[in-house]
Amino acid sequence: MAPTYAPALYRLDGTWSPKGGANGAFTFTLFNLSDQPIADFSLAYTSLTRVIDAEAVTNARFLRRNANFHEFAPPDGLSLSPGEGWTFTVSGLHRPAKHCTEGAKSAYLTLSDGSFVDVAVSDLLLADAPSLPPPVLLPKGKLDLPFALQPWPAEIDAVPGDGFPVVLYPVEGTSTDSLKAISAVTALIRRLFESAHAPFSLIRAPEGRALSLTHQADLGKEAYRIRFTDDAVDLAFGDAAGRQYGLTTLAQLLEGARSKPETFRFPASGTIADRPRYGWRGCHLDVSRQFYPVADVMRLIDILAWLKLNIFHWHLTDDEAWRLEIKAFPQLTTTGVLRAPQGPLLPQLGNGADPVGGFYSQDDIRAIVAHAARLSVEVVPEIDIPGHNAATLVALPDLVDGQEAPDSYHSVQGFPNNALNPAVDFTYTFLETVFDEMVTLFPSEYLHVGGDEVAHGSWLASPQAKALMEREGIDGTFALQSYFLKRVKAMLTARGKKLAGWNEVAHGGGVGAEGTLLMAWENPKVGIELAEQGYEVVMTPGQAYYLDMVQDDAFQEPGASWAGTVPPGHTYAYEAAGDFPDALQDRLKGVQACIWSEHFLSRGYFNRLVFPRLPAIAEAAWTPRANKDWQRFAAIVPLCPKL
Ligand code: ACM
Repeated sequence: MAPTYAPALYRLDGTWSPKGGANGAFTFTLFNLSDQPIADFSLAYTSLTRVIDAEAVTNARFLRRNANFHEFAPPDGLSLSPGEGWTFTVSGLHRPAKHCTEGAKSAYLTLSDGSFVDVAVSDLLLADAPSLPPPVLLPKGKLDLPFALQPWPAEIDAVPGDGFPVVLYPVEGTSTDSLKAISAVTALIRRLFESAHAPFSLIRAPEGRALSLTHQADLGKEAYRIRFTDDAVDLAFGDAAGRQYGLTTLAQLLEGARSKPETFRFPASGTIADRPRYGWRGCHLDVSRQFYPVADVMRLIDILAWLKLNIFHWHLTDDEAWRLEIKAFPQLTTTGVLRAPQGPLLPQLGNGADPVGGFYSQDDIRAIVAHAARLSVEVVPEIDIPGHNAATLVALPDLVDGQEAPDSYHSVQGFPNNALNPAVDFTYTFLETVFDEMVTLFPSEYLHVGGDEVAHGSWLASPQAKALMEREGIDGTFALQSYFLKRVKAMLTARGKKLAGWNEVAHGGGVGAEGTLLMAWENPKVGIELAEQGYEVVMTPGQAYYLDMVQDDAFQEPGASWAGTVPPGHTYAYEAAGDFPDALQDRLKGVQACIWSEHFLSRGYFNRLVFPRLPAIAEAAWTPRANKDWQRFAAIVPLCPKL
């Protein structure tokens, strides 16, 4: 979100108290900082702590709510003069507020002339107790070996040198592919550390060191081996990815030694023999709740490559917006992204009076996928179905069973009737068309189809769904979900793609484990259960790997807390393989960070929540368990580039 420089004309400040309702109460005061009185206005705010009891409001009238959008009117006849405040309380909350980010995230007024004007908001405060700041969460750390490597390699036996080479330059006769690889890693470090000196040069330089690159077929594709001597560095690699990782290791060593010579060194002699622990080393980004411009997505992919992560799971659609251009359905990225006071979608999650949109054109997507591929990162796109489709259903109303009672079910995020209907024929025509376009854009082995958080009771008030259940001899929401996802899986199979999804894909009978990869997010135990059922599993439990979660219990610590408190030390220590029985270890394909964006209103916020936990997960994905060391990690992680 762009910063605002104009002085606020209105401000909404709020407190939360545990008193006054089952989940406590907010007390908000709207201050008029303009030079005009206001009357006959309404106030809308967005908050992830939702009001579910319209009656439990004092000194205000509840007008409407849609997910986290709330709108209130002041008492009849209220006029607010310049400098005055209007105070009201809301106590019918769906859960208590535990952190400063769980009050109003944005607000605006609808004035008596029908115009909309932004209201500034501050952090939520506790009403009856001090809102305490968090402690320092990252220790200074301690190094046994002074090398700035992250993730730490599988094997390292190297002697720190006193100085470091000016640059590394390829020996005579280096292949064109290797010259290009050196050039690509040089460009990567240039983007990530704009003022850093280049680690490589294609020309020989005084005080530089010669670098030889050798393809070695018996190394794994992502593996590499480096030998350091006084006058040369020899890099052997399994394949292009291994070469890139070896060059990245050299770039990290040099960048550390150059930027913090009091702490880090370049090896004078010895070896590094390195390979990843897991094949799936992922990072997910939710671009639906907040839109990330192409340059931000590109930079995040650069950071993934720097950390030797190899999967970018791109969560492109959700209730709040559909961000993926589909040529056959342009409404998805016009109507389906536009949040504004007058719709088509209402402001959510930090939006105010100004309309906000944003989507990725197919050209944008091709550019991002190509950029990722050049850095050995595979883009796995997600369209989240059948749940989480409020925006889709506004954009394409033909997807709705017109006879279904409105508000017949609500998602956990508070959206009414938000799931694609398995009994509506157009659902399948729509998805066939979407998949046809997606397979031309994404060369990935998997397409991720979500499958999470379909609300209990979904479709049960849809006459078409009732008829389908009767015809198929099935009963209930999750049997319908399984019926739907099996058809989706067949569509993907016909297009040469495997199905990836969230753990609930297995509900109601699932889709058949063959060729299906599921992400265990609800808790670690679910991952083991999925593996027992034969699914391939990626572990991404909210309690350790959801980077939107708060990092401390203190009220001033920003973030969400529904999955618990996730300090960086806990993220680092978590072992996905921990409770997996030996017989199921081969179903554990890897681990993944998830960046859910509900709370992510600025770059500073993103960086505070994502770092240092993303590099912690990268180390869990790459480094053998026996080599993990929190103190070493803490000493090196301040060097990690941010968004
Ligand atoms: C999820 O967090 N709903 C996958």
